[in-house]
Amino acid sequence: MQNQLLNLKNQALSLINQAEDKIELERLRIDYLGRKGQLTLSLKKLPQLPLTERVGFGTLGNDVKNALETAIADKAKSLSQKVVVNRGEWFDPTMPGEMPPLGKIHPISLVINEVEDIFARFGFTVATGPEVEWDEINFQKLRLGPDHPSRDTQETYYFDDKKLLRVHTSSVQIRYLTKNPPPVRIIAPGRVYRRDTIDATHLPSFHQIEGLMVDDKTTLTDLMGLLEHAVKKLFGQKRKVRFYGHHFPYTEPSLEVEVQNDKGEWLEILGCGMVHPEVLVNCGLDPKKYQGWAFGMGADRLAMLKFGITDIRRLYTRA
Ligand code: DAH
Repeated sequence: MQNQLLNLKNQALSLINQAEDKIELERLRIDYLGRKGQLTLSLKKLPQLPLTERVGFGTLGNDVKNALETAIADKAKSLSQKVVVNRGEWFDPTMPGEMPPLGKIHPISLVINEVEDIFARFGFTVATGPEVEWDEINFQKLRLGPDHPSRDTQETYYFDDKKLLRVHTSSVQIRYLTKNPPPVRIIAPGRVYRRDTIDATHLPSFHQIEGLMVDDKTTLTDLMGLLEHAVKKLFGQKRKVRFYGHHFPYTEPSLEVEVQNDKGEWLEILGCGMVHPEVLVNCGLDPKKYQGWAFGMGADRLAMLKFGITDIRRLYTRA
């Protein structure tokens, strides 16, 4: 009797081993271990055996059963690693799916989000404007007359006399101030365009983050304090920051801000200043009642500094 069981075991193990797919394996399981399976039926003969044989047969029977179950489970595992989905023969719905490669937040978006968060704590909300802009809004209302160098066709993409791709996010200042009465506190991130020759620090399209505050009491020192705070939040408290005088037609006085990179070199990251009274007038505001300050920072530059990227093109190409 026991020999019969051993034969059955060997036969079953070799069939299990040869099984080519899960359907066959399942058929074998039923054939041996199912309710009417060969092993089950053999084991059912146990009570009919003489007492002396029962114990040994019972123990062996259990061993065989365990051995077959383990062999089937192991085989199932090795088959599921080989399963070819969509072949139509077998589909294992319990197999973990293939994960699509996950994206990450782009360094420029990270910087923009961070700047938005920093200024949100001071009551600034996010405003946006179109990338295709009127010459009037991008230039004229910001006191950039027809002869200003940044209007040169070398630097601006024009559609026609009146329409262009905005060269800076300062256009959003005009749009927002024209529609919203002070107090105004906005951050305006976005893409800007210039006819620049491509190199490690220039691309024809990049990102800026504009800031604007207009109220009945705004001061240059508030602006400087807030910008220094923002830079240190972005780059760490130890980062060195310096301000120096500059010129922008839409601010008076105007400043530029530089921060030190890891090599100790000073890099310009933003322009800022007190909004020129004429700009307020151009937006329908009374400069005797209101003053404002504004800034515009290069988001790509900030991202490069923050993440140690030395070539701006790396921000726009695959690694
Ligand atoms: N628009 C300037 C640029 O593109 C940056 C800038 C300077 C923005 C001074 C401002 C500002 O709002 O007040 O370089």
